[in-house]
Amino acid sequence: MLGNFTYCNPTKLYFGEQALDRLSGELENYGPQVLLVYGGGSIKRNGLYVEITAILKQSGKKITELPGVMPNPTVDKLYEGMELARKKKIDFILAVGGGSVIDYAKALSVSVHCESDPWERYYLKMRRINNPVIPVGVVLTMVGTGSEMNGGAVITNTQTKLKIGRVFGESVFPKFAIMNPKMTYTLPQYQMVAGFYDIMSHILEQYFSGTDDNTSDYVMEGLLKSLIHSSLAAIEKPQDYEARSNIMWIATWALNTFVAKGKSTDWMVHMLGQAVGAYTDATHGMTLAAVSMPYYRCIMKDGLPKFKRYAVQVWNVDTQGKSDEQIAAEGLTAMEAYMKKLGLVLHLGELGVTEAMLSGIVKGTFILNGGYRKLTPEEVENILRESM
Ligand code: NZQ
Ligand code: ZN
Repeated sequence: MLGNFTYCNPTKLYFGEQALDRLSGELENYGPQVLLVYGGGSIKRNGLYVEITAILKQSGKKITELPGVMPNPTVDKLYEGMELARKKKIDFILAVGGGSVIDYAKALSVSVHCESDPWERYYLKMRRINNPVIPVGVVLTMVGTGSEMNGGAVITNTQTKLKIGRVFGESVFPKFAIMNPKMTYTLPQYQMVAGFYDIMSHILEQYFSGTDDNTSDYVMEGLLKSLIHSSLAAIEKPQDYEARSNIMWIATWALNTFVAKGKSTDWMVHMLGQAVGAYTDATHGMTLAAVSMPYYRCIMKDGLPKFKRYAVQVWNVDTQGKSDEQIAAEGLTAMEAYMKKLGLVLHLGELGVTEAMLSGIVKGTFILNGGYRKLTPEEVENILRESM
């Protein structure tokens, strides 16, 4: 049964090869002082920087640049951006990049006018927003997080080794997102497939929860089938527009709040992945890939009917003469084979996790209620150990 909910998604999307042409029209809605936020330089190497700065100048904007947003953006970088945005009296933030750049821009948008320490107020204490928010626009260059159409903003504190995902409300959703699949062609294969798994994990962590008959579960099975099909095509031929455009669209729907409405969710794989990320600074999607199989095998019996349904609906497992448990386990085996085919990291050791880090990672893992049951700290440790 669907629970009660309110649904509103205020982000306007421009999708396709000509999407960037729509940027100038959007810029008319905002003031002259634009903060251009980007990462470590990929947009300079692929020509996007030149295109975007030209559009900003033609639109009469005064550009302040904030480069160097790192994967898994840090609190220190947030403080640096706050100082700059205050000094330049920024009216609008344009984020050009992947999830890290977009998340950072959103965190900055609520932090610039925050009168206290935003890390403490909005992340450690999870307080509601009580100050003006600077509008954010997005040009997406990496597919996976769904950050282009949601209120999520994950920030890492490297001193305390805490990586915290805050989900803000509608006021922090990007005002618009420009999504041209071709802008993702220059991604290295490692980042591309990490993004594919991030999408899969977002879907699964909403799917593996609850036993009710829920429309979202059927939608997610469709998204998963399309993702599996297109991701296998994309690793064969990375510039397959059909595959890359489908994947870009799936990523947005996987985490734009739509499929979660009226439904319970899990999110333990992300909690484990974030704790690993805080210690290693590893690529987000790979941290999820490394912990997923041990986690799902640990909770499979608790959510057996859904794991069986997943095996049958998504992986076409033949049910003839098999127990529910065998069917469910075969589904997970098929998923593992697919992950290997994509070239995902399945062992934490490959991400730089050492034995000495394990107890800290266990402590840094926020244990949520889960889709079927809550893990104990011992189980968290076992899952991490199994992945080593
Ligand atoms: O920094 P540059 O030079 O731009 O290079 C980036 C970066 O090194 C590169 N890249 C991006 N687009 C490229 C490109 N390289 C070549 N060509 C392009 N077109 O890719 C690298 C990774 O980028 P990043 O933005 O870090 O990746 P991703 O999109 O996976 O974002 C990860 C961050 O998002 C958070 C994660 O925790 C992590 O901090 N998440 C945000 C969520 C949300 N807002 O809802 C949910 C997710 O679950 C996730 O937690
Ligand atoms: Zn994710």
